[in-house]
Amino acid sequence: MHQAGSGSDPGGGPPHSAPDGAHRSRVTLRVNGTDRDLDVDHRVTLLDALRETLELTGTKKGCDHGQCGACTVLVDGRRANSCLLLAVAQDGAEVTTVEGLADADGTLHPLQRAFLAHDAFQCGYCTPGQLCSAVGVLGEAADGQPSHVTGTAAPSGPVTLTTDEIRERLSGNLCRCGAYNGIVEAVAEVGAGMNGADVTAPSSSAIPPRPDVIV
Ligand code: FES
Ligand code: FES
Repeated sequence: MHQAGSGSDPGGGPPHSAPDGAHRSRVTLRVNGTDRDLDVDHRVTLLDALRETLELTGTKKGCDHGQCGACTVLVDGRRANSCLLLAVAQDGAEVTTVEGLADADGTLHPLQRAFLAHDAFQCGYCTPGQLCSAVGVLGEAADGQPSHVTGTAAPSGPVTLTTDEIRERLSGNLCRCGAYNGIVEAVAEVGAGMNGADVTAPSSSAIPPRPDVIV
């Protein structure tokens, strides 16, 4: 990360004012397999950097306060609310958005296919966050990470994604349309078949490159 304008304010300026550029830095995010170089204001969230700067509008802004899950993406393989992360703090991170879930040849992620099969959306606004969150859930369950309903603090192996497990683990992703039953069915179907199947986000090399953007 390279901070721009980090010297002192030559003009003195009013009290508490920052010198030009002192609140901006250059960062590199690896987004859906491609390095993206950005000049970001330190106050910009990862969500706004994705949507407004990189024009990856699949990730949605619902509450902008960490309460709805619409903005969920994967950061270094873990799901996160991008509205709660500052872009400048993610320098060097690998970010996967809903645009990066399908394979390079357009083959949908198993969860995307299951959402279609189970009619797991209505308006679709929450769906990108639901999908990214569900990808995270599959990884957490495969790694044996317990949830509140798992019943043991340290499972010895992968956690079976029961309906209760899925509802608990996706409880941070709200759906105004009430498509929860279809969402749970879709995740359960993919979770039940994930032994030996690749249900993670595609590897970086499998994602078609996008041109670097320097803003
Ligand atoms: S927009 Fe981030 S949690 Fe609602
Ligand atoms: S499908 Fe409309 S908010 Fe979930």
